[in-house]
Amino acid sequence: MAERIVLLPGDGIGPEVTEQARRVLVAAGAKVGLEFDFVEESIGGCSIDAYGTPLRDEVVEACRSSRAVLLGAVGGPKWDDLPVDIRPEKGLLGIRKALGLFANLRPATVLPALVDASALRPEIVEGVDMLVVRELTGGIYFGEPRGRSGERGNRSATNAMAYDEHEIERITRVAFEQARLRRRHVTHVHKANVLDVSQLWVEVVDEVARDYPDVELAHQLVDSCAMLLVQEPRRFDVIVTGNLFGDILSDEAAMITGSLGMLPSASLAVGGFGLFEPVHGSAPDIAGKDLANPLAAIQSVAMLLETSFGAKEAAGSIRRAVAAVLDAGHRSGDLLLPGETRETVGCRRMGELVLEALDRA
Ligand code: IPM
Ligand code: MN
Repeated sequence: MAERIVLLPGDGIGPEVTEQARRVLVAAGAKVGLEFDFVEESIGGCSIDAYGTPLRDEVVEACRSSRAVLLGAVGGPKWDDLPVDIRPEKGLLGIRKALGLFANLRPATVLPALVDASALRPEIVEGVDMLVVRELTGGIYFGEPRGRSGERGNRSATNAMAYDEHEIERITRVAFEQARLRRRHVTHVHKANVLDVSQLWVEVVDEVARDYPDVELAHQLVDSCAMLLVQEPRRFDVIVTGNLFGDILSDEAAMITGSLGMLPSASLAVGGFGLFEPVHGSAPDIAGKDLANPLAAIQSVAMLLETSFGAKEAAGSIRRAVAAVLDAGHRSGDLLLPGETRETVGCRRMGELVLEALDRA
């Protein structure tokens, strides 16, 4: 029986990278006897243009009756002047909330072939392998009250950061479970010297930690964590934090690995249902030019196979294929250092190279 996957290519480079990822998913799945039935839907700016809203209920329903969702990216300058409530990003936040995708896993790994692509020195980034576990459906992104009031000269705006202990506990458990699959170290990132919310996080994280005596826990202030990430990134294994800090630190972690163009992510609900997307955005400046790097989307497919179908071997074969393509010297434009001149490959060609490497394996 074919497994239903919803594709949400979205805006900008989303459609190009999603198409390459879809081809890799079909090929890697076939090797382990998985067959897919793809349903394509709109989200973000393209949905605003076609339907006047960034996310329709039908799309949420389609996702609910699928095995997994593969998303490209949302947003672009065309929709930048819209009010926050009807912007493309609202579609992404809406689907996260509607599907209960509270746990966002963002692995940041330095591949040996890309040690020199990082803006940091090779001896600092070599061997970096961390996982940012970001709470995704709470905190200041969704807190009430929110909004603006007053007229010019008297304007004000409000957003609230709020977490209850249930939300903190479940994301913390995800982090500790992940740590058990890795180097058994969790860093909880917070701002407890200022925020009441963070003080509650510290308490609850400590309580959960008692159930995981085999995992080491550290608490780290978010400002000093930002510093340590560039100073000594290898010290981090699993980072667990709230929605806003996780957003910021995962971009930082991504840059350490060389390019935002490499990072996949999984957003999971209770029970394990998942939406998979590259961490990079819609990159409107290069959209439609076949210049995008599809490797983050392709590695998101590896996470999909592993998480939604337990297909560890298929996921491994994708990761090995990506590493082989990079080892052979192929690079998309985003992976070149300033001043580096070497021939680059486009989005489609990069996808083909991964397919060829899969075939050889
Ligand atoms: C991300 C993005 C989103 C976020 C935006 C597009 C709403 O930056 O997935 O990290 O802030 O969560
Ligand atoms: Mn972000």
